[in-house]
Amino acid sequence: MVIEITPFLDTNKKEPLYVQLYSYFKNEIQKGNMKTGEKIPSKRNLARHLAISQHTVETAYEQLIAEGYVESKPRKGLYVNEILQDSLLIHQSKPNVWDRSNHVENDDEIDFSHGQIALEEFPYNVWKKIANATFSKEQDYLLINGDRQGEFSLREQIAHYLYQSRGVRCVPDQIVIGAGTQYLLGLLILILGRQSIFSIEDPGFHRTREVFYDQGVTTIPISLDEHGMNVEELNKSNASITYVTPSHQFPMGIVMPINRRMELIQWAKEKKAFIIEDDYDGEFRYKGRPIPALQGLDSSGRVIYLGTFSKSFFPSIRISYMVLPPSLLQIYHERYTIYKQTVSRLHQMTMFNFMKEGHWERHLHKMRTTYRRKQKKLLEMIHFFLCKDVVVIGADSGLHILLSVHNGMTENELINAAKTKKVKVYPTSIYFATQDPKDQPMVLLGFGGLSEPEMEKGVKLLKEAWNIG
Ligand SMILES: Cc1ncc(COP(=O)(O)O)c(C=O)c1O
Repeated sequence: MVIEITPFLDTNKKEPLYVQLYSYFKNEIQKGNMKTGEKIPSKRNLARHLAISQHTVETAYEQLIAEGYVESKPRKGLYVNEILQDSLLIHQSKPNVWDRSNHVENDDEIDFSHGQIALEEFPYNVWKKIANATFSKEQDYLLINGDRQGEFSLREQIAHYLYQSRGVRCVPDQIVIGAGTQYLLGLLILILGRQSIFSIEDPGFHRTREVFYDQGVTTIPISLDEHGMNVEELNKSNASITYVTPSHQFPMGIVMPINRRMELIQWAKEKKAFIIEDDYDGEFRYKGRPIPALQGLDSSGRVIYLGTFSKSFFPSIRISYMVLPPSLLQIYHERYTIYKQTVSRLHQMTMFNFMKEGHWERHLHKMRTTYRRKQKKLLEMIHFFLCKDVVVIGADSGLHILLSVHNGMTENELINAAKTKKVKVYPTSIYFATQDPKDQPMVLLGFGGLSEPEMEKGVKLLKEAWNIG
């Protein structure tokens, strides 16, 4: 299996990037987080993933080879070295479509929904084969209710994946699987206690806000600045829980920089508060270096990590999960395992087999390339056809962007004018709890489910509908 990694490389540090990268590998190998015989990423892939030069990676790798941490196998790549792995092991910190093709009918509706995924890339045959093999007479126990927390083997795979791809550090026991982020938030409110005071980004994810409202918990909106949630404002509030989307703020698309992440963690530490980190589409980052999840940066057990397969795989599978810090895990075990698992055991085990056989890693790699290409195309089209009359917001990652349109139309007028051309774009005002974004009307465009010709046609129609460009 090839390891994927997400270290934090800091250009402000005196230490050169290659030294930081070398130290990261060395540390992870010594701690046993990278295991004997695991393949480390190719120079090219890692340089692209971390947005650094191949030369930087090469220099770090040369040092690791020289010191014997990794070995080079001719024509195969670099592998974590056996002897060093075993002798230096200090501690185990981690136990271990339909084919839309290129054809667009003239009167097809172009739907820029952010809930769509690239159906044309779905691995139908592999999934069908694995689902069939999983659902066999020999596995008849799958017809009976399983572990309330979710299948252990799937949780193991998720823990491994989260560590490699998002820098999250957890053991499978900390993971609770559930049918969707909203369901898990409901459960989390029970664990945290309804008397707690919650806060949420404003603008922020309306479905989370609704869960807080429906559960009757006090909810304080906290405004954003260019780095994400305003921690000064959060500090002044009496909130003891905060919900954030740091990898790709929903809906504004802000990627929270490392300093703000550390401030947020500091707030939680000082106030003995909890951060709910919703990392719904953190796998898809197009610019800059990946920043590890808050959960991986926090050493005080103050972050609850929420993840989902809805964006990275497909939404109707309804497999989402949360990673509980030890103090909350204890409450969950004591009081809330009364609630049965909400995701079908068959789907969980199919997903497990899919991951175990290496298909998940391949699929994710493919989807990163696909969405990067789609986003690039969409931005090109916007720059070409809509030009200076629009500003693109939040294009560093994720499966949607925002367009601030400067033609005098209100948000409603923009949406309705697009509708007359059979193009669906989406409002952003619904995400604002207190402010009114009237002065700066913005619409949301998801691109995951559209083909390149569809996007091109859609943007051309928007130009006509909005009379700009
Ligand atoms: C901010 C945010 N969180 C979470 C999710 C995923 O929700 P679920 O896991 O219920 O599919 C989405 C999907 O649209 C989202 O936009």
